[in-house]
Amino acid sequence: MDMKKLAGDKAAEYVKDGMVLGLGTGSTAYHMVNAVGELVKNGMKIQAIPTSKATEAQARELGIPLLTIDELDHVDLAIDGVDEIDPQFNAIKGGGGALYREKVVASMAKEVIWIMDESKLVDKIGAFHLPVEIAQYGSKQAMEKMAAYGFNPVLRVKDGKTFVTDNGNYIADLHLGAGFDIQDVYGKLTGMLGVLEHGLFLNMCKRMIVGCASGEVKIIENPAK
Ligand code: 5RP
Repeated sequence: MDMKKLAGDKAAEYVKDGMVLGLGTGSTAYHMVNAVGELVKNGMKIQAIPTSKATEAQARELGIPLLTIDELDHVDLAIDGVDEIDPQFNAIKGGGGALYREKVVASMAKEVIWIMDESKLVDKIGAFHLPVEIAQYGSKQAMEKMAAYGFNPVLRVKDGKTFVTDNGNYIADLHLGAGFDIQDVYGKLTGMLGVLEHGLFLNMCKRMIVGCASGEVKIIENPAK
């Protein structure tokens, strides 16, 4: 049972004709993008904004009409994956390094849906590292600042090289531990010199769609949205 596919396919049911759609990034979003491609193939008229170069390439391949960020004036619905989410709808995102574009698109969206397998549901976020996108220039100093706060930052490395985002920046992964003080970390990272954006997405989604090992798909609505 592919839990990610269950969630991705279900999310595509919320896509309606005429929508401007935010397409997320990652292995769960991958299934949703495929399902949206199918809708387009069957005649649905939508436009989409991808949140990464990888998603853009996939959407192009599927023939999904795309907008650039400069052409975008609204987003009806953004659908994306998460790395962890708690019952208060506080999420960590950015495991794939696309958190900045993901946050830009989700912030513009009238409605946000997070899709996931059931392993992403946690009581308290923080066992997963918190990704922070930082400028290359001054990255040493930004890392030192985060270390001084006790955030245990580790510069992300992929295939033996420092990972570079689609925006040309680095990622610092903060090892905070489950139950860290979310508001304190959010406050300290916001506006920190050298930090472009961080992967805390707090209470942004209207619903979670969760694919379960049993084959069930849980839909959890956010009462605050
Ligand atoms: C990418 C993300 C992804 O949505 C997140 O990492 C979840 O990925 P996956 O669905 O592959 O588990 O934030 O930056």
